[in-house]
Amino acid sequence: MLDLGEDAFGQKLWAAYTGEEVFEIVERDDGYIDAMRIKGYFADYEDWSPIEQKAMDFVKGRVLDIGCGAGRHSLYLQKKGLDVLGIDISPLAIKVCISRGLKKVRVMSIEEINFEQDSFDTILMMGNNFGLFGSFKKAKKLLKRFHEMTSENAIIIASTRDPYKTDNPAHLAYHKLNKKRGRMAGQVRIRSRFKKYVGRWFDYLMVSKEEIEKILEGTGLKIKKFIESKDSNYIAIIEKA
Ligand SMILES: C[S@@+](CC[C@H](N)C(=O)[O-])C[C@H]1O[C@@H](n2cnc3c(N)ncnc32)[C@H](O)[C@@H]1O
Repeated sequence: MLDLGEDAFGQKLWAAYTGEEVFEIVERDDGYIDAMRIKGYFADYEDWSPIEQKAMDFVKGRVLDIGCGAGRHSLYLQKKGLDVLGIDISPLAIKVCISRGLKKVRVMSIEEINFEQDSFDTILMMGNNFGLFGSFKKAKKLLKRFHEMTSENAIIIASTRDPYKTDNPAHLAYHKLNKKRGRMAGQVRIRSRFKKYVGRWFDYLMVSKEEIEKILEGTGLKIKKFIESKDSNYIAIIEKA
């Protein structure tokens, strides 16, 4: 479990929730730094991207929201009367969710997920959270587990970014470095920073549609549909094969 000193993402989220102007600082292991406003994590349905809005049409029944952040999807679905459990590795993200009224929450990492058979009808991985699978091998292993713990007609909704849809020289150089290290091009090693807080390094996996199809092979799952945007973001709707 993360202690609060390592929970840089949660510290940022809590600061933003309590009214501070906060930027999300993400550091990649080649030294590349990215900064963006954190406000999106608190956005209401009306302000989500069209592909996120469309993805909500596929949600049904008992929902597991993995890496729920500030709980924007969970809260939207809970309000609609769905039975939603939001989980996140960050204790402070979960504190934000509770403060915002989310009823069912757990501090839990994706690796720890191991619910009984037929526990959920929908698994949500929004905000590029396909990335939480971390690697090709881990994605396959966890997807097999998700297959076991969901109902017969369950759906997995996972958003990601096609890493190849970029002309940024820094990202293209990183793809090459990754291939040299035997990693997937879009497997970024990153950590979160905020004030004095420094998160743990972790692998975040961005994948093309072809790569998702390969990951799904042998998991008992298949693509139902891709919801595509004009940029590199897209959402995979995954069903049982
Ligand atoms: C990019 S944010 C997305 C938040 C939310 N789904 C949204 O779209 O607003 C990623 C979230 O995943 C959480 N997270 C990171 N690593 C995780 C892990 N191994 N297991 C579960 N959650 C994790 C982070 O704490 C953060 O809240």
